[in-house]
Amino acid sequence: MQASDWDLLERLSPGVHQRPRDADYWLRRSAEVLAESTQSRDLYPVLDHSRGEGLCIYDLAGNAYLDMTSGVAVRALGLRYPRLVQFEREIAHVVEELPGQDFDHIPQTLLAERLLATVPGTTPRQVFFTTSGARAVETAVKAAIDRTHRTRFVAFRPAFHGRTGYALSLTASKAVHRNYYPQALPVVRTPYAYCYRCPLGLQPNNCGVACAELVREALQREGTDIAGIVVEPISGEGGMIVPHPEFLPRLREIANEYDAWLIVDEVQSGLGRTGKWWAVEHFGVEPDVICTAKALGGGAPMGATIAPTPMFRGASRHSETFSAEPRMALISLFILRELEVGGYLERAAQVGRVLLDGLKHLEEKYDIVGEARGLGLMLGLEIVEDKKSRRASPAIRDEVVRVCVHRERLLVLGAGDNAVRLLPPLTVTEEEARDALARLDRALETVAVSG
Ligand SMILES: Cc1ncc(COP(=O)(O)O)c(C=O)c1O
Repeated sequence: MQASDWDLLERLSPGVHQRPRDADYWLRRSAEVLAESTQSRDLYPVLDHSRGEGLCIYDLAGNAYLDMTSGVAVRALGLRYPRLVQFEREIAHVVEELPGQDFDHIPQTLLAERLLATVPGTTPRQVFFTTSGARAVETAVKAAIDRTHRTRFVAFRPAFHGRTGYALSLTASKAVHRNYYPQALPVVRTPYAYCYRCPLGLQPNNCGVACAELVREALQREGTDIAGIVVEPISGEGGMIVPHPEFLPRLREIANEYDAWLIVDEVQSGLGRTGKWWAVEHFGVEPDVICTAKALGGGAPMGATIAPTPMFRGASRHSETFSAEPRMALISLFILRELEVGGYLERAAQVGRVLLDGLKHLEEKYDIVGEARGLGLMLGLEIVEDKKSRRASPAIRDEVVRVCVHRERLLVLGAGDNAVRLLPPLTVTEEEARDALARLDRALETVAVSG
């Protein structure tokens, strides 16, 4: 970090100058004062908040990392995207806070219109702005209950929809997220269409999408009075699982049969990441509701729920103090426009193919890579003890991630029990993609040889 940035911290927090500047000291200090959450302090370095550009992130010691995480799909345009930095300067005079649910202002209306223009189909829809992905899901749940006066939902295993309230009740990813926290909604839960490990032991080419039929069967036994089916078009946290191509179309049919909403959680997969605005479009399905967040703010806390008009049957059924504040709404508008005019959806598809080809090559090369999969820039490797047994290996996965970060300076994430997850910014170049593949190759070789 530059001396001027330490001076700045000193001004706000006197005494900083006298403190050590090494990562171990700041890791210890963070661990004392920050509630334990999802940090992996033994894995990821203390990051330098004062610099970075594109896919390049620095740690306190000045080491540069190639970022294949986008902060878990947040920074679609990478770090300090020059035109966004310039735009933020241009809007420095804009007021930062006007409670958008209580008063109208132009930026949030324009943003809602822009978002609606990305949604497939002709159903009239409205937008509710939130400050997180979980809140976008909460909003969808409340709207579905309001519409049907039913409270039962269908959700899947694995599924990740957030860690609060109703969203947590729909989540089924790891027990640690759920233990002791009460179920807030009745949920009919069936297995996700995870073809590499088919829950029914079938083959995708002749299974008849039996996993979707399990939903029908479950409803007959547990209650058909459902308000909605909530599903990730690609299971992100669950392990970057691309479902069987007929899974979502079948869920669409089931939702229609029971007059329930098909609610797609695109918090991770949406806004161009897979090469289309919404991952659900790859499956030829028109959902009723789309939940989004993460990339919408590009770092600012922005989420949205997009649902048929009227989303709520009356005033005051739902609200949040903070929502699409003018400055945030302008930034979101800028991001949506830049993704479009900059051709970043096309790039996500094109560089995504380069990455997937490269990952498939790694799948062929290493016995510990069970499957390479993904759509666009939402990709993963499933790590196993060996191809033949397909036994999931969280330990080998953790080691691959550790070697990527520590030795190769490649930032990747884990997903599910045993997947390595890649979610690069949509600005990623083919050259950066090939660089990431080379680093990942070396990391896999290191782990495969030492194992
Ligand atoms: C699919 C999905 N839904 C919901 C969430 C929750 O979003 P947030 O952490 O902004 O509440 C996440 C976060 O990773 C997600 O991946």
